[in-house]
Amino acid sequence: MKFFIDTANIDQIREAHDLGILDGVTTNPSLMAKEGIRGEEKIMSHYVSICELVGKNVSAEVIATEFNEIVTEGKKLAELHPAIVVKVPMVKDGVKALKWFSDNGIKTNCTLVFSAGQALLAAKAGANFVSPFIGRIDDANWDGVLLIEQIVHIYGNYGYRTEVLAASIRNPLHIVKCAEAGADVCTCPLESILGLLKHPLTDIGLEKFLSDHRKGQQ
Ligand code: G3P
Repeated sequence: MKFFIDTANIDQIREAHDLGILDGVTTNPSLMAKEGIRGEEKIMSHYVSICELVGKNVSAEVIATEFNEIVTEGKKLAELHPAIVVKVPMVKDGVKALKWFSDNGIKTNCTLVFSAGQALLAAKAGANFVSPFIGRIDDANWDGVLLIEQIVHIYGNYGYRTEVLAASIRNPLHIVKCAEAGADVCTCPLESILGLLKHPLTDIGLEKFLSDHRKGQQ
């Protein structure tokens, strides 16, 4: 399973990248605003900085929702760096744009996906990634991981090459459950990635090994 980090914070991206396990980055307009990155010039140059750091799979989201505008904005984003993946919302003109990008060799990530039907349309339109938001589904009292299982199953039935990118991850268990469900990618906050490291028996075991070693040195 690929690990992406879901943030526009360059320090957190660097920390995950330095860990050696990072396969990409996802951003969205909320995450960019959270980092105070405003105005087209700053936004574009921030995407370039992320691409230069990570080198692959950097999702940059369009703001437009009308076909011609999505295409214009997506082309501009794609020209920034070969690592850019144009993130397109699951709306009618978005589906049409996914097909246009696919026909014109521009990589895409279909975002704001909350149902198997939406994921099926994204795959038909040739999206490279589909992003079901599992945390928000859980928030709405449904089971986000079940949706991942359903999409993986449907894509398997037909050999769709669209990668299932589990998004809106809230904790380390989400990551493990998505791996069990066969997600191709998880995009996670840094905290959830680092949470995978933790186990109290590791801490207790390490403390014992180190104290036994110290005793052996006396
Ligand atoms: O990748 C999508 C993600 O940024 C949404 O996460 O926590 O806002 O539901 P969240």
